[in-house]
Amino acid sequence: MCGIVGYVGKEQRCVEVLMDGLRNLEYRGYDSAGLALAMPDEKGIETTREVGPLDNLAGAVGRKNGDFFKVRAGVGHTRWATHGRPSEANAHPHTGGGESGPEVAVVHNGIVENHAELREELEGRGCEFRSETDTEVIAHLLAERAETGESLRKALVGALKRLQGSFAVAAMSADEPETIVAARHQSPLVVGLGEGENFLASAVQALLGNTRKFLFVENGEVVILTDSTVEIQTLWGEPVEREAFEVDWSAEAMGLDGYEDFMLKEIHEQPAALQATLAGRLDADDAVELSELNFDLASPGVERVVIVACGTAYHAGLLAKYAIERLARLPVEVAVSSEYRYADPIGDEKTLVVAISQSGETTDTLAAVEAARAFGGRVLAVTNTQGSLITREADAVLLTKAGPEVGVAATKTFLAQVAVLYLLALGLAGARGARPAEELAEIGLGLRRSPEKVEEALGLLEGRMGEAVGMFAGARCALFLGRGHLFPAALEGALKLKEISYLPAEGYPAGEMKHGPIALVDEQCPVVAVLGEGTLREKTLSNVEETVARGARVIAVAREGDEAAGRVARVTLPVPEVPEILTPIVSTVPLQLLAYHVAKARGLNVDKPRNLAKSVTVE
Ligand code: M6R
Repeated sequence: MCGIVGYVGKEQRCVEVLMDGLRNLEYRGYDSAGLALAMPDEKGIETTREVGPLDNLAGAVGRKNGDFFKVRAGVGHTRWATHGRPSEANAHPHTGGGESGPEVAVVHNGIVENHAELREELEGRGCEFRSETDTEVIAHLLAERAETGESLRKALVGALKRLQGSFAVAAMSADEPETIVAARHQSPLVVGLGEGENFLASAVQALLGNTRKFLFVENGEVVILTDSTVEIQTLWGEPVEREAFEVDWSAEAMGLDGYEDFMLKEIHEQPAALQATLAGRLDADDAVELSELNFDLASPGVERVVIVACGTAYHAGLLAKYAIERLARLPVEVAVSSEYRYADPIGDEKTLVVAISQSGETTDTLAAVEAARAFGGRVLAVTNTQGSLITREADAVLLTKAGPEVGVAATKTFLAQVAVLYLLALGLAGARGARPAEELAEIGLGLRRSPEKVEEALGLLEGRMGEAVGMFAGARCALFLGRGHLFPAALEGALKLKEISYLPAEGYPAGEMKHGPIALVDEQCPVVAVLGEGTLREKTLSNVEETVARGARVIAVAREGDEAAGRVARVTLPVPEVPEILTPIVSTVPLQLLAYHVAKARGLNVDKPRNLAKSVTVE
């Protein structure tokens, strides 16, 4: 939540780099955006801030000229409001000083938990606040110190030592116009390395058009950035050596590539995401090959699995529970991270903790990992983001290789997570001898073929969404039903619909519907039934019949040519046949497309749904 970016380097590049960086970080928040630039010829710091999406700031920048583009250093921010409503006054950068000392500017991602008492203290010393934000205290603490003659680095470190909470902060001072100092505690920060220029950002995505070489900044570290040097120190001034790493994401991956929206592009990228995620992880006999893990899946030391995650990643975790329990016969608990972290969880060193997070920076999931560490659990992270915070907290990492996901609604990363978790289930089952190798290889083969099956699903659904979408005209809510491993798919369908179309939607186990939610059913509450194969199919069908008897209009997600589905449903969204255990993978595709088209029919921005941000880096 909130994205920060910084640049020191060449004239005419600064504003462009900052704006491109913010564009690529806009998924982190779009309540307001702003820039602070060190103006040439000692003309001080100029800030430009606009409420609303980045386009508004881009408009304001477009009206500037002259000196504005001659700057060589600046910072930028895109905001997801936590303290203070979205307004120009609350937009970052926040400034301080400028009267008896140098003017300073800061951008911040995180929360200053003790901001109220710091504000009172600063006001007591005559400081005037211009915003309702927690961040403004940092600007004033910094300015006070800079006024006494402290360097920007020293002043920022001194200010940060007063804070409780989380931060990634970048700061500049009119007295040191060619330096940016940044630091982090719990919120993410990376340094991008260039030639005669250097960069800072909340995430590597921001800078892919400029560099692929990065340095991570760890908790409690400070970075001093000029056009030709990058110095990392601890908050106590000790120098830190850090090796650079290269990311394999391309700048092109951040573009729309002819699609109308990132969400649609990313839905269509799912076959490639699955392909890349599975590559090298199934051998020629379709047995799972996870030697990349630095611990032994066969270890008798693992007696249970706990999965922690939020949102869509939690739904992937629920699917993993079905797969691991069914194949590996290991008990699995799945918990929402924000609950788990405060649940005083029970476990020991025989507990394998699987933490799933696309971004690898969700605060609650990181805290859940910490809670699991406290009881000695071994942590395996599943993430799409190389080098993200979670990869550094975990004992082992399984990367999904979906490429950068920009749309706030997770799509391709969900299927990639599911693929990795199925691999894990197969790996655990194989290693523990819980199932015959042939049975596991058959599922492995199904998984290997899943990219083409998802491609087939996209083909089958092309031009077939109209009638289903029409059933949502005038709808006041929706019910998504599934049983067994299709229940998590139903939950994911409901989440997709509510987050981008703002329609209340419930995902429910079909058999549980009569215990309450069936009361919702009428003509204005379409029922989406996710039908699979196997024993629970007939049961789901009769649950759906019960809704039809009460006036429900049903959309079925079912195998192409499924006649029984055709009899209960007004519309069938067809998916190809796959091994029964893999049905959630193909069944998710029509649910994503349904949410997408319903939201588009309502004229909504599917990539930037209201009130949301893609990375939830605050509690
Ligand atoms: O980055 P993470 O996977 O940890 O994010 C978890 C959730 O915030 C995320 O899945 C969210 O629910 C998505 N917007 C759903 O589409």
